[in-house]
Amino acid sequence: MAPAAMTSFVLVFTSVLVVRLSQAGSENSRPGGGNYDFVIVGGGAAGCTLANRLSEIARWKVLLLEAGGEEPEWSQVPAYSSYTLTPESHIDWGFRTAPSPLSCGGVGCVYPRGKTLGGSTAINGMFYVRGSRQDYDDWRSLGNDGWGYDDVLGYFKKSERNGNRTLAATRYHGTGGTLDVNVFKYQDVNTRAIIDALVQYGLPERDLNGEYIIGAAITQMISFNGARRSTNQAFLREARKRSNLEVITMAHVSRVLIRNRNQAYGVEYLKDGITYRVFATKEVILSAGSICTPQILQLSGIGPADVLKPFGIKVVADLPVGENLQDHVCSTTVTCKVPRTSQMPNITSQFNDFLDYIYRREGPLTATGSLQIAAFFRPENTTNDDAVPYMEFTFAPTTPEGNLPFCYYDRIYFVGILQKPLSKGYVRINSTDPFQPPIIQPNYFEEDQDMRRMVEGIHYALDIIQTPALQNLGFEVDMEPISGCENYTWGTDDYFRCGIMMTTRTNYHPVTTCKMGPKSDPTTVVDSQLKVHSILNLRVIDASIMPTMISGHTMAPSIMIAEKGADMLKHDWGEDKIKN
Ligand SMILES: Cc1cc2nc3c(=O)[nH]c(=O)nc-3n(C[C@H](O)[C@H](O)[C@H](O)COP(=O)(O)OP(=O)(O)OC[C@H]3O[C@@H](n4cnc5c(N)ncnc54)[C@H](O)[C@@H]3O)c2cc1C
Ligand SMILES: *[C@@H]1O[C@H](CO)[C@@H](O)[C@H](O)[C@H]1NC(C)=O
Ligand SMILES: *[C@@H]1O[C@H](CO)[C@@H](O)[C@H](O)[C@H]1NC(C)=O
Ligand SMILES: *[C@@H]1O[C@H](CO)[C@@H](O)[C@H](O)[C@H]1NC(C)=O
Ligand SMILES: *[C@@H]1O[C@H](CO)[C@@H](O)[C@H](O)[C@H]1NC(C)=O
Ligand SMILES: *[C@@H]1O[C@H](CO)[C@@H](O)[C@H](O)[C@H]1NC(C)=O
Repeated sequence: MAPAAMTSFVLVFTSVLVVRLSQAGSENSRPGGGNYDFVIVGGGAAGCTLANRLSEIARWKVLLLEAGGEEPEWSQVPAYSSYTLTPESHIDWGFRTAPSPLSCGGVGCVYPRGKTLGGSTAINGMFYVRGSRQDYDDWRSLGNDGWGYDDVLGYFKKSERNGNRTLAATRYHGTGGTLDVNVFKYQDVNTRAIIDALVQYGLPERDLNGEYIIGAAITQMISFNGARRSTNQAFLREARKRSNLEVITMAHVSRVLIRNRNQAYGVEYLKDGITYRVFATKEVILSAGSICTPQILQLSGIGPADVLKPFGIKVVADLPVGENLQDHVCSTTVTCKVPRTSQMPNITSQFNDFLDYIYRREGPLTATGSLQIAAFFRPENTTNDDAVPYMEFTFAPTTPEGNLPFCYYDRIYFVGILQKPLSKGYVRINSTDPFQPPIIQPNYFEEDQDMRRMVEGIHYALDIIQTPALQNLGFEVDMEPISGCENYTWGTDDYFRCGIMMTTRTNYHPVTTCKMGPKSDPTTVVDSQLKVHSILNLRVIDASIMPTMISGHTMAPSIMIAEKGADMLKHDWGEDKIKN
């Protein structure tokens, strides 16, 4: 079938599905004018979790402000995650990184962030991976009491409703939460073969959220019965029935209100072109994520003085807000063709897949093709399983024929993701207009060691493709030169360096822009209670507070941070006697 025809067929299916599934959520457009105990800014991974936990206290009045709208129904179809990032998507902020000659083809990378209730958990890859024990023990040793692995494990388990009885019986998983964690119920032939290949390559197949993260697995996902479970669905939907929780969507927060030089007492937001102010009698909590939380703080006068002054912003607190940006960098340098096991559908099979999904919640659309495996590699020459991995691999479906649902593909990117990059970047405002995006400069590969490790990772990928499991299925490396790298000989490290520079990608994990740590550490913004240094009644509770980059993925940790932050608030405001 002609690619164009196929793409349009998929789009027709998609629109049918949208019509069928869309039950308008209870849009709450009533602009709040009043007083609340807590005002939460941003309804993403952390914000939805917090809104639920704080509104458990019936006499607390909680307001959640979200810049995006209600979460669409179509993004809950796992295979349609491929559409959440397209320019037509209304649920992405549409950011780009600032250009750098070392990465992203010199022109900057697209930098998606969810803009809807559920935040980035409404558009993400759904991987539920927590990180290694050592990652959290490192946080503690940087002066953050209460953040070691044994301290935080209980907060991971608190949210979780794991559907696998074997896993639930271990000490690492929970079943009493509302966040459904399950492997997808559909795996195609390539997915199963890649797992076999990774085992042949020497990685153990194991629960990556168990004792060790080194290994490979069909990953646990935030999913239930063939659908995505964003934090909006897992935490907010039910909580919105409580009369003490108000949610206002399409509310773009522009700044935190501060009086007496250091006391937060509310926020200002814009909705439909009108500016509103709302007040928090207890605390303001920023959960706008690693890009937007620094932007809001800087617009409020909390940030590096030399960043704020050129914009005429009065400095309330000179703190390194937005500095220390770290991200998991990756590239699509290695592409593997799968001619014999292509998952490109014909019209009949597409139609059947569609019916399977609609009527039975089964089939390829319940999953994301080959993008459901994670593999964590030991550092070179180490054999111990408690090592901190330095490379992760995922296997992203693709096709030259345009953007299709993830389950339809004839090529796979072997994506090597650097786990502990040394390069650090920043997020800085570029305007006093809250609607102007901040400058996002990750400085990928500024430290050459990061590039050297990425090149090593390419060799791992090529070795995996040579395993019998993949050779038997006819996997073959795509030797078509990457555009811009034609002058290098394919297979040389210079070629791979060029490929990594031209095809750089984010694995969507910005962190550390409001780094947690003791005030004596000049790189930190919040203390281990998540309170902004020198400011009263203001906390940051989201991915930005991570003191260092963790292994794996950042959603589960962001939810954990919110669970722990909610308990801190309950404790500090005298409500810690309720059962958890
Ligand atoms: C495409 C993509 C794929 C990913 N895949 C995975 C994955 O598979 N597994 C994983 O673990 N992690 C993944 N991540 C990362 C993960 O989703 C994030 O780390 C996590 O959601 C961060 O949580 P957060 O609460 O800090 O921010 P977010 O979830 O991004 O939420 C921030 C919220 O604040 C809102 N907001 C921002 N500014 C304002 C403002 N001025 N006023 C009001 N509201 C505002 C935003 O609209 C958003 O709803 C992915 C991310 C993306 C973008
Ligand atoms: C549950 O998890 C275990 C360990 O990862 C796995 O072997 C088993 O197949 C899973 N069971 C189901 C029903 O998915
Ligand atoms: C369409 O694809 C399915 C599944 O791969 C196959 O069984 C069927 O024969 C194909 N039909 C046509 C008309 O090509
Ligand atoms: C790993 O071992 C090989 C062979 O002994 C050696 O050449 C290489 O430098 C070692 N790598 C590291 C990172 O130590
Ligand atoms: C910053 O603003 C200037 C002037 O409006 C614009 O030209 C530039 O592209 C912006 N930079 C980024 C990285 O957005
Ligand atoms: C490749 O080499 C040719 C001939 O030397 C040169 O004209 C061209 O600009 C080079 N291309 C790149 C991308 O460097």
